[in-house]
Amino acid sequence: MSAIALDSPVRAPARTPSQHSVNECVMVSLPKIQDPRGNLTFIEGGSHVDFDIRRVYYLYDVPGGSERGGHAHKELRQFIIAMSGSFDVVLDDGREKKRVHLNRSYAGLYVCPMIWRELDNFSSGSVCMVLASHRYDEADYYRDYADFMRARWA
Ligand code: TYD
Repeated sequence: MSAIALDSPVRAPARTPSQHSVNECVMVSLPKIQDPRGNLTFIEGGSHVDFDIRRVYYLYDVPGGSERGGHAHKELRQFIIAMSGSFDVVLDDGREKKRVHLNRSYAGLYVCPMIWRELDNFSSGSVCMVLASHRYDEADYYRDYADFMRARWA
C-alpha cells in the first residue's frame, strides 16, 4: 500500500459503525528531517493524525510467530507505526480484508473504528507503537468476532 502525501492528513468523516470500511485505513507519510547525525520524524495530534493523542502504547520483545490484536474497537481511532523492524496488520471490516506491511518509522497506518485487526509476521526486535484517540477502556473492545459482525450488520 502506498502512503498518502504528508499534506493530506487523515480527515475522518462522521460515520455510523457499519459504514466504516478498510478503505478508510490508509498509510500516512510523516515528516522526515534527514540529517547525517540521524534522521528525525515527528507527529502532531490533529495534524498528521486527525485526533488528539490521549494514549501511546507499544509492543516489543514479540516472540517469533506471535500474533497480537484479534479485536475491534467501537470508537477508538489508532495510528500504528513500525518504530523498528517490521510486521503486518490485517484489517477486516466484515466485508473486505487487507494486509498491510509496516516497515518504516516515518509512515504510519491510520485505523478507523469498527475494524477487526490482527498483527503478525513480526520481525526479530520489532517495535510497534500505537497512538490512540482515547485512554484504555475495555468496554470499547469487541473481542469476539461474532459479536463484532453482529454489531456491524445490526
Ligand atoms: P490488548 O489490547 O488485547 O493487546 P493486543 O491488541 O496487542 O493483543 O491488550 C492486552 C492487555 O493489556 C489487556 O489485558 C489490556 C491491557 N492493556 C492496558 O491495560 N492498557 C492499554 O493501553 C492496552 C492497549 C492494553
